[in-house]
Amino acid sequence: MKRIICSFLIIGGLTQAGRAASTLTVDVANPVGKVSPVLYGLMTEEINYSYDGGLYAELVRNRAFLDNSKQPVNWELLKPAGANGAMALDFKTPLNDAIPASLRVDATSASAAAPLAVANSGYWGIPVIPGARYHASFFAKAANFSGPVRVSLVSDDGAKVYAQADVPRLTADWKQYNLTLRTEFAVAPTTKARLVLSVEHSGTIWFGFVSLFPPTWENQPNGFRKDMMQMLIDLKPKFLRFPGGNYLEGNTIETRFKWKETLGPIEKRPGHPSPWGYRSTDGMGIAEFLRWCEDMGSEPVLAVYAGYSLGGMHVNPGADLEPYVQDALDEIEYVTGPVDSKWGARRAADGHPKPYPLHYVEIGNEDWFDKSGSYDARYTQFCNAIKAKYPQLKCISTIGQDQPADKRVHSITPDVLDEHYYENADSFIRDAAHYDHYDRSGPEIFVGEWAAHETSFPPWDNRSGKEAPTPNMKAALGDAVWMAGMERNCDIVKMNCYAPLLVNVNGRQWRPDLIGYDAARIYGSPSYYAFKMFSGNLGDQQLKINLGEGSKLQSSATRDSHSGIVYLKIVNPGDTDELVNIDLKGATSVSAKASVETLSGDPTATNTIDNPAKVLPVVSKLDKVKPTFSYTLPAHSLVVLKLKAK
Ligand code: AHR
Repeated sequence: MKRIICSFLIIGGLTQAGRAASTLTVDVANPVGKVSPVLYGLMTEEINYSYDGGLYAELVRNRAFLDNSKQPVNWELLKPAGANGAMALDFKTPLNDAIPASLRVDATSASAAAPLAVANSGYWGIPVIPGARYHASFFAKAANFSGPVRVSLVSDDGAKVYAQADVPRLTADWKQYNLTLRTEFAVAPTTKARLVLSVEHSGTIWFGFVSLFPPTWENQPNGFRKDMMQMLIDLKPKFLRFPGGNYLEGNTIETRFKWKETLGPIEKRPGHPSPWGYRSTDGMGIAEFLRWCEDMGSEPVLAVYAGYSLGGMHVNPGADLEPYVQDALDEIEYVTGPVDSKWGARRAADGHPKPYPLHYVEIGNEDWFDKSGSYDARYTQFCNAIKAKYPQLKCISTIGQDQPADKRVHSITPDVLDEHYYENADSFIRDAAHYDHYDRSGPEIFVGEWAAHETSFPPWDNRSGKEAPTPNMKAALGDAVWMAGMERNCDIVKMNCYAPLLVNVNGRQWRPDLIGYDAARIYGSPSYYAFKMFSGNLGDQQLKINLGEGSKLQSSATRDSHSGIVYLKIVNPGDTDELVNIDLKGATSVSAKASVETLSGDPTATNTIDNPAKVLPVVSKLDKVKPTFSYTLPAHSLVVLKLKAK
């Protein structure tokens, strides 16, 4: 239920119900500082099928036949009556040096009436999009078989063919085939479909690297899912922290994110096991991450592997660590180097001659887990080497003030500390003043992962597996209180990002997550909308606010120095409507008209893949705004008032 109430009835500072009204003073005449221009961003890694089965638009699952060393998982042999044959993984017939496997199909009996086929159901279904052109491709070679191979998009029950195209001939040598599959405009969208490769003659065929892309964001090859890109861009993220998270570190040193192995043609990328229980295709390589940043108008916050992996192994600082430091320097050169540098030239060859902007490099991830105590020396070695070559870059330590002092870096002073907070919504609300009294003389703070959970147990508790993948309104209110605190303190909290960002509702490892989706549909959680209201309504000047003693509300105010718009954010996490008396202190001119955006709802209310719009922000108008006016915030609400005042 959404209620927007504007009230002007205060009797001696009391509401009609007899409760004391809050007083919120916003000093509009004396901005206290600049708003961090990179305050709101995104954090991302391969978790919950964020890329494969998510943003990365590839529809074929196990396209390189490397997801399992024994079975061609996610592939099925279709043998209608009258057809016969077998399929098997074949490591004796590698596709190339990087992809050591192929799928061998022996068709012993096949005909036009009874074709033998292999099928792939993608990531919980392949979406059938009306009037779309899909790009299908595969490598193949054959023995005692010359063709044709039919490639089709077919309903799960085989009854409906949505699109098809033929490759007339195969040869005895590996060759890539590219086809366009076109669906009709009249087709009903569904995810109950699969990609089928079928033959009508007997013989042996080896398939390698089978791929299918729907239309992608800006039609880029090897591109991104369109609906997801739009939702991300709508958040106006100023930066993207990648590639992790745990995904950066890997369970072992060997399975860390090796950025150099993510370069080049996708059919030369073997992928690697991720710490989140499934193999990553590495279709999202460093070049794609950077393109993603650019497409969103965001800067990279580049996390470099720093010699610690989740299984507990670390690389000793000193000579042993040197190759990893060099690898990070190469990576920075790939991002920022001129085209006449070695790695800048490689970036240009990969299609992007222009260097990307980069200001922040994060050294590792959550290194407080490293029991060897080596982070101080590892960080120092990395940071000194980075600063020697790139003095303008800021180095982020992964151990912040939320961790015990003896774990933190002491040998040198980090430029920035990354702090992570996964808290119960009520804890965030209780801790609203967390950054109000932080030491201003210390390093900048990057809250590189944060999220409120509405449950009494944390995300890593097994019970989380039974909860919805995305948070409810209660969690969104905790998030809103937390964001108000960070925004109020953005002289020290320079950057923040919610984590995790994405979840395929069919394959999650972690909750709560900001955005949920399946193969065809997508939705924002209440927390998504709260984040959007914060990041999308931000001025460049920080205004001092004062909420009277005992108020249950939380708030933050900024102003756009060009337009004069004051963005006043107020959170009412309580279960009663709250009257607030707003004093625009020092205002000499206030426009009577204002706009209001409200996110409110029952704390248990939420959005789901089937009911994506239960909790949405509502925009309304306000008039009769004066230098002093009152406003009633609905129970359980986040309100952004956009006022014009100077
Ligand atoms: O966001 C999920 C995980 O939480 C991240 O990978 C890790 O950095 C943190 O522990």
